[in-house]
Amino acid sequence: MGKKIIGISSSRVNGNTAKKLNEIGEILKSKGYEFEIVHLMKHNVKECVGCETCLIGGGCPLNDDAEIIMDKLIQSDGIVMSTPVYMFNICGRLKTFVDRTCRWFHRTEIYGKPILNLITTAGGGIKETGKYMNLLAVEWGAYPSGCVKRTVMNLKDKVRENEIEKFIINIEKGSDTFKPSLNMLMMFSMQKVLAQKVLEQDEEYWIKKGWIDSDYFYKCKINPINKVLSKAFYKMMYKKIKKSI
Ligand SMILES: Cc1cc2nc3c(=O)[nH]c(=O)nc-3n(C[C@H](O)[C@H](O)[C@H](O)COP(=O)(O)O)c2cc1C
Repeated sequence: MGKKIIGISSSRVNGNTAKKLNEIGEILKSKGYEFEIVHLMKHNVKECVGCETCLIGGGCPLNDDAEIIMDKLIQSDGIVMSTPVYMFNICGRLKTFVDRTCRWFHRTEIYGKPILNLITTAGGGIKETGKYMNLLAVEWGAYPSGCVKRTVMNLKDKVRENEIEKFIINIEKGSDTFKPSLNMLMMFSMQKVLAQKVLEQDEEYWIKKGWIDSDYFYKCKINPINKVLSKAFYKMMYKKIKKSI
């Protein structure tokens, strides 16, 4: 069976963004990938109530579809995250789902997966929205792998294969060849310190995964200067944050 890609659709099922997501799906299917769209609109995903039960290792008390969707992402070989720009950011429906993945900032289950972003807008906000979506991928320990963008000016232009080339290359090559940026390495250092100092459940998970002694979530290519800088950042944060476990 081919590799499986999940596309997260966060606005209208026949909206501008979903149309472009379908076009990405057609290219992926023509390359032999399985492609499934999860329309958040068709699912019951409640807003996070901030109880932090998921962070301390308990099941989320909200009885809905969030966990089912998260499980699809865990099982996937790559993810397409799509959103329209609403008020210069991702749309609320996507943010509602993203909030429910909070435990992945501490104990990620989708590390090393390539993520392609798709953003549509009337005209503005692509930069701000793209920046947030890349940060999100980094928080999840996933690998930002390009962004397809459309405004009213070019909304009708079909998605071309070269726009998703990086994503396809990353699905095929796997994480061994990824080169995490300094930003990604620093986030990892921060998450490691939190695991060692703040949440007992994180520490257990990080030890089990072997991440306490590793340079990143997965075996990959690391620029030696970035390695030194992120280690220095780790040491500084380790000193600064008081142990609460
Ligand atoms: C609530 C709302 C907020 C929007 N905010 C922005 C915005 O900040 N900047 C912009 O250029 N377009 C904005 N738009 C336009 C949409 O981003 C654009 O039409 C998009 O392609 C809609 O995609 P959809 O059909 O998948 O929802 C907004 C539209 C809506 C409905």
